[in-house]
Amino acid sequence: MSDTVRESWGSKAGFLLAAAGSAVGLGNIWRFTYIMGENGGGAFIAVYLLCIAAIGVPVFLAELAIGRHTKRNPVGAFEALRPGTFWKHVGALGVVAGFMILSFYSVVGGWVIYYLAQSVLGNVSALSSPEAAGVYFNGLTTSGGAGTMLHALFMLVTIAIVARGIRGGIEKVSKVLMPLLLAILVILIVRGLLLPGAGEGVRFLLWPDLTKLSPSVLLTAMGHAFFTLSLGMGAMITYGSYLGRDANLPRSSLDVAAIDTGIAIAAGFAIFPALFALGMEPGQGPGLIFVTLPVVFSQLAGGTVFATLFFLLVFMAAITSSISMLEVVAAYFIDERDWSRPKAAWVLGGMIFVLGLPSALATGPMAGMSIAGLLGGAAGQGALGNIGILNLNWFDLISHVVSDYMLPIGGLFVALFVGWVWEQRLARAEVTDGCPGFAWCGVWLNMLRYLAPLVIAQVLALGILAEFPAEHFPGVASFVAAVEPWLAVSAAVAALAAVALAVWRPQGEPA
Ligand code: TRP
Repeated sequence: MSDTVRESWGSKAGFLLAAAGSAVGLGNIWRFTYIMGENGGGAFIAVYLLCIAAIGVPVFLAELAIGRHTKRNPVGAFEALRPGTFWKHVGALGVVAGFMILSFYSVVGGWVIYYLAQSVLGNVSALSSPEAAGVYFNGLTTSGGAGTMLHALFMLVTIAIVARGIRGGIEKVSKVLMPLLLAILVILIVRGLLLPGAGEGVRFLLWPDLTKLSPSVLLTAMGHAFFTLSLGMGAMITYGSYLGRDANLPRSSLDVAAIDTGIAIAAGFAIFPALFALGMEPGQGPGLIFVTLPVVFSQLAGGTVFATLFFLLVFMAAITSSISMLEVVAAYFIDERDWSRPKAAWVLGGMIFVLGLPSALATGPMAGMSIAGLLGGAAGQGALGNIGILNLNWFDLISHVVSDYMLPIGGLFVALFVGWVWEQRLARAEVTDGCPGFAWCGVWLNMLRYLAPLVIAQVLALGILAEFPAEHFPGVASFVAAVEPWLAVSAAVAALAAVALAVWRPQGEPA
């Protein structure tokens, strides 16, 4: 442990902006829209919103509480609370997840930089047809060199900010213009809605077609709820560790979740009505915003200005998120290994850059490379080739493994820790400090004890089974069909129990 004075946020608003800045990012605009497009629209949104409310907000509050209580990075926090136990590995899992997420996040951040530069030149708003926009995007992502350079550039910006520290870097950047992003989304929404045929897109977003639900849709929606709130890898433990006693943790958790969800839904409405009006395909994957929005910009008076502003704001949003990922990793090495802040930022950032190279190349020179493909020759395509997860390219593989499995597992452990392991007295004291009238302590703890673990564990289990597709593994599919209804039933029971137990026994466990 270094014994220099620990940094802290400069102001309450500074923290809220930084936490919201971490949450609002490419996840809201780029990732949310493309995975929603791939997973059935409204039904996906419904599950996603349930996950935010039932799991996301309670776990967010739990992470902040652990962070502020211990004033440590995730590994140090668990070690401080339960020394010498396996809990520190939960923090370590988060540090590893931070490495992995940033490695592909930065690749997309690089694409945003490219679109920003091209917007200034007027080249983005000149893409007036879906075909032209598609060709343009493919030109960028299939040339490995450009993707790699841009990925490097995005990492350099992230590193430079983290190297400067909490107040100097992260907070200043976070204070920039989040409302402007929402304003420009609203302009795009209005333009999109006015296109003939936009109604189909509104329907796609608002009509939850429940037949579209499947275990893999549930898994993706839950994983994204963690991703978008920056949960499950200790980012909020780390940000909470820089918070003072006067901060209102429950209020901040709700505010961040509300802002984050609002921006994601706005992004959905900015994209899908226009997409349907233009006769484009919703399930086209990670290129979605890069091929849809330019066409909308081309139809706006002043499209060049709007395109530039939009990609500038998305870039800002991406940076305030990427710094929170590097910050978790860096905080661990600064606190526990006595590294200087600049050393941590540069060395770790450099490693993340290298780890991201296959992602940068996955859409181009390494297209089609998957684990099943690599093992194909040796192990025989057979059974391996049928397992969903083994067929993903590097970019999709990392995104899927981290967001859909590692973050929910991290969140599961945070919920179990605060719900069952940490002294209830301390957990309650932590969340009511700065929020004296907080009446939901009991409900919150019960959600962490029962609802969150039950839902996360079941969705994870179903998701793993869903890697074995029905055509090739009929036994697995019929097992899933048999147990599926229990998920809904048990989640509903746990939700009721969370409230009922808190009402009947408002003091919770005897202290
Ligand atoms: N929440 C950010 C987004 O939506 C991404 C992010 C930042 C993140 N920090 C994180 C995701 C920590 C998981 C964990 O773009």
